[in-house]
Amino acid sequence: MKYDFDKVIERTNTNAVSVEGFRDYLFGEYDKVDFSVPDDDLIKMWVADMEFETAPEILGAIRKRLDHGILGYTMIFDESYHHSLISWIDNRHGYKFQPQHIVSSRGVIPALFYLVKKLCAPKEKALIMTPSYAFFKHAADANETETIYTDLISNQGDFFMNFEDIEAKTADKSVTTLIFCNPHNPTGRVWTVEELRQLGEICFTNGVTIISDEIHCDILRSGVTFTPMQKVFPDSTDIVTCVSASKTFNLAGLLLANVIIPNEELRNQWNNDHLPIENPLSVAAYQAAYSLGQPWLDELTLYLDENFRLVKEFLTKNLPKSKFKIPDSTYLAWIDVSAYITDIDDLTLHFAQNAGILLEGGKMFVANADGYIRLNLACPKSRVLEGLNRISKCLNN
Ligand SMILES: Cc1ncc(COP(=O)(O)O)c(C=O)c1O
Repeated sequence: MKYDFDKVIERTNTNAVSVEGFRDYLFGEYDKVDFSVPDDDLIKMWVADMEFETAPEILGAIRKRLDHGILGYTMIFDESYHHSLISWIDNRHGYKFQPQHIVSSRGVIPALFYLVKKLCAPKEKALIMTPSYAFFKHAADANETETIYTDLISNQGDFFMNFEDIEAKTADKSVTTLIFCNPHNPTGRVWTVEELRQLGEICFTNGVTIISDEIHCDILRSGVTFTPMQKVFPDSTDIVTCVSASKTFNLAGLLLANVIIPNEELRNQWNNDHLPIENPLSVAAYQAAYSLGQPWLDELTLYLDENFRLVKEFLTKNLPKSKFKIPDSTYLAWIDVSAYITDIDDLTLHFAQNAGILLEGGKMFVANADGYIRLNLACPKSRVLEGLNRISKCLNN
């Protein structure tokens, strides 16, 4: 391997949310919690960023931009940024977005908050699939928009949409927006073309706009194919797609995402409400990611494949009553441990206190997630194995 994913990197004193921010984010509702180990010894497998250095090609591009010495007001005038993004998606997923449809955002989360506000008038509702990335609900809550849930159906560790239920829920005229995770966090499901077609047809027949959050689309297991929602409905103006290099290349702190809005009216509203000033280091980094990042991502893919294989093997051997299928996408393992734990509501707290590991328990995923834990595997193997050992010791006691 050209890149070193085994390297353990200390993140203390970098204001990393993973290391410094967990008390507030995970346990804020409790005044003070104590764990079985000191905070520094907790294994951190919770928030969805990586313990890996980003690609040296990206760091090089940031350094080069920094060495220019002037970091003044910056906007994306240069067409090459959009072309690098479009080519990246086209080369990987076989679909070319229109450059004139692309706008920038400080992240996918701010985009979601804005889009829900624009797409859901008072008394209108948003639909989400549960379990769900919690910020989908937060985006609706912030706009006082009621959220309707459609539960994914689980089958032997795999997850499926309930089309009958989606049809029934979107038939309610007050449901105007689906906030859709493609691929899906936390289950890691990559939706098939047929599933996307069926979902789109139901939504568009019922006048529902789809926000397709595709932030996880480049973290795929080897051999898996991802389809952008817009690729299935290239002429639709009722899809808004959110993408970013942040998950794929561990750049979340650079606060840049792109939103692709084919609907002219909505795009004009976006442009009226956003000042398109960018961080010059973020622009340099993302452009380098899209034009030079493939070799690093290829190796990351193999490393994550192996981490998932290890988890599967470990669970089969040590926690045979757990249910887990290696997901098509994401670096997140979504594991059903309900056979071991029946009467504990807050699994995040339980594992932090009793196993010395920070992970995200089902309760953090809105609904339809009891008995599940989500483990972040974007870390060196040594950390994955230590985390698994702690979980197993805790559950087998
Ligand atoms: C589905 C999904 N959307 C958005 C985000 C966060 O996006 P950003 O950091 O660009 O705001 C995450 C982070 O975990 C995510 O899983």
